This record gives sequence, structure tokens and C-alpha cells, in this order.
Amino acid sequence: MITVRTAAEARWVCSNWRSAGETLGFVPTMGALHEGHLSLARVARGRCDRVVVSIFVNPLQFGPAEDFGCYPRPLEADTALLEQEGVDLLFVPEASEVYPAGFSTWIEVEGVSAGLCGEFRPGHFKGVATVCCILLSIIRPHVAVFGQKDAQQLAVVRRVVQDLRLNMEIVGAPTIREADGLALSSRNSYLSSAERVEAPAIYRGLCRAARLAKSCPGVPVQALRDAFSEEIEGRPLLRLQYIDLVDPSTIAPMPVLDRRGLFAAAVLAGTTRLIDNVLLEPGTGAVEVETC
Ligand code: PAF
Repeated sequence: MITVRTAAEARWVCSNWRSAGETLGFVPTMGALHEGHLSLARVARGRCDRVVVSIFVNPLQFGPAEDFGCYPRPLEADTALLEQEGVDLLFVPEASEVYPAGFSTWIEVEGVSAGLCGEFRPGHFKGVATVCCILLSIIRPHVAVFGQKDAQQLAVVRRVVQDLRLNMEIVGAPTIREADGLALSSRNSYLSSAERVEAPAIYRGLCRAARLAKSCPGVPVQALRDAFSEEIEGRPLLRLQYIDLVDPSTIAPMPVLDRRGLFAAAVLAGTTRLIDNVLLEPGTGAVEVETC
């Protein structure tokens, strides 16, 4: 695996592969890698000749009271994992490489960035869209892979790529879970053992709503919320931030499940914010991943 720290080197390696007729799959990450990230790299590998991963803890997507300072940065362990996975190029830029002096361009994606996490993390998706545009323009992959767990992020990136005609395919990959259903996240390491015991209730709540969607096509959003909340209520360490049903592409609220919908939650376990979601189909229940 080649590891580079500058945009010029990353651009050079990628453009050589492209000129040789090879296809490039890209997985942007913030490191603290787990099986979820590795599964994204495998999706990229399944579609492309070369796999590129970036590790960059993007300051622009953290709010002032969020965990930028203490976000885990186990670079050596991450490098070993990517090496084992057969990744071809690791790009680990410094902040000054991504945002050089004088940097003043932001990508703001209207509509799809509002609601769900957008309501509780002002500026977050502006930071995500901006860094993704920069990384995508350095690597210029044929395919970029993002996790379905961050479904709103996936919708934002798809919108940017479509609107700015970035000419690449954005692929959503299924959420990887612990045996008890908890979605893998770098932030799970913040959970105390008591919080870790309660956290799988989030996925149980989503599954309860999925069963309702299966048995009751056209179910109103409030009934889905109630089904979800039955798992969360009475758990002292969990606090619901939002639970909502939205269109998976536009993130516009859906009052009833009359077509495919994204049922997404954010829950605080102590001070750790956990997000998770399922895609619901009326009469079918949960389906795995949003494909377009
Ligand atoms: O999902 C993440 O890890 C980040 O939001 C991303 C896409 C790498 C942008 O910083």
C-alpha cells in the first residue's frame, strides 16, 4: 500500500492509474476504522481495479461543542488494517493540505441538508459536502463508496455529485452491525459498559417499526415513531433526539409510508450521539440499501 500525505502526490498516483486504464474506487473516512469501513473498501474493490482510502478528521464538520478534539486517531492500527485489506493507496492529509491558507469556498447543499441531523448539527453537512468535494476532486474516482448508516450524508453527497456534474458513481453500502444489532461506529468506543448494554435498543426499535411497515402498508409516521419509542422509553441512559420518516433522496418528511422511506433516528447514550436507520417499504418492511 502506498501512503501519501499531500494532494499533489495523491493526484499523481491516481492519474497514473487512470491513464493506464484502471478504475478507481474511493472510500473517504475519518479513521478509527472498523469492520464497517473495511466493508466499504471491499465494495470498492468489487467494482474497481484500485482502491483508495483517505483518513482525515475534518474540522469543518464538527460543531464547537462536539468531539473534534478527542475523536480517536489510531493511525498506525488503521494503516495496518488497510494494508491487510489490500488497499492500494492511503491518503492522509494534514488540515493545511485540505484547507490551504486563503481557503474560502464552501459547498452548501440546500434541502437535503435540512431536517434529521441537519437540525441538530448546524453546519455539519456544509463541512461534509465541502471536504467531500475537495477529496473527490483530488482523487477523481470512478466510484466512491459511503455507508448507508450515514444516510443523510449519502443523500447530500449524491446531490452534490449530481448538481456539480462530478461524473462519478456514488454507491451506498449496507450498515454493518454488532451481533446484538448496534450499528458499528467509531463513536461506539465512547460508550460506558452500561450505555453499551442499552444502545442495541435503537436497532430493536427500528426493527419493531419495520415489522409494522410490513404488516400495515401505508402506516402513518406517528405509529412508526410509537413502535420505535417503545424500545427506547424506560431506558434511563438513552435520550431520543429525533426519529423521523423521510424520502431517502430528498430527506423531505413523509407523513405516511406510501413508498420507500428512510426511517432514521438519533439517540443520545449519555453524551454519545448514535445514529441509525432502516429503509422501509410498505408491505415488505426493511430493505437493505438505497441504490440510487
Ligand atoms: O463519514 C465520514 O467518515 C465523514 O463524514 C467523511 C465522509 C469522511 C467526510 O469527512
